[in-house]
Amino acid sequence: MLSLRSTTDPAWVARIEPDMAEVLVDHAHCEKKAAGTAMNMVFSYVEHPAFIQPLTEVVEEELQHFRAVLGIMASRDVKMTGQVQSSYGKRLGALIRTREPEKALDRCCVAALIEARSCERFILLSEHLQDRELGAFYGELLESEARHHALYLRLAEHFVPRETMRSRLEELAAAEAEIIALGDPLPRLHS
Ligand SMILES: [Fe+2]
Ligand SMILES: [Fe+2]
Repeated sequence: MLSLRSTTDPAWVARIEPDMAEVLVDHAHCEKKAAGTAMNMVFSYVEHPAFIQPLTEVVEEELQHFRAVLGIMASRDVKMTGQVQSSYGKRLGALIRTREPEKALDRCCVAALIEARSCERFILLSEHLQDRELGAFYGELLESEARHHALYLRLAEHFVPRETMRSRLEELAAAEAEIIALGDPLPRLHS
């Protein structure tokens, strides 16, 4: 499903649920970063209007998600703070090559995989959180992350043929599965 090469054990939800306030702070940072990732691509490829137009919509949607998480946090008296990040995003970012068009391809594939893993985790949270209000919140978010996943893969084809995208996606999906398997001692969405 969703190009992912591994499946998260639903026991992950029970592991992080006691630290859900910290996970919400992480989630807010993730949505902010997702908006930033899309915006950075708008800056990098601004001379490709068909490429950046849907990305501007992603920026808006991720900012809406960011505001929604901040709203849930406020309703629970959870303060937004700086936080030590999980190593997941940094490890994936290190796989992006530096020359074009490989760089654009890799940025799209890495963004697609992060969206896919977030969506997979949101599905688990929606199904297994004991806190049903939060479960419903994650149920509302997962559709748009699945859509962003598909969009980033389509966008990669602005720069390379589909077969090239598919084979690089397979390599990066295998790497993503290894990175997520490393886990993280911190309670995070991608721990
Ligand atoms: Fe989002
Ligand atoms: Fe997203």
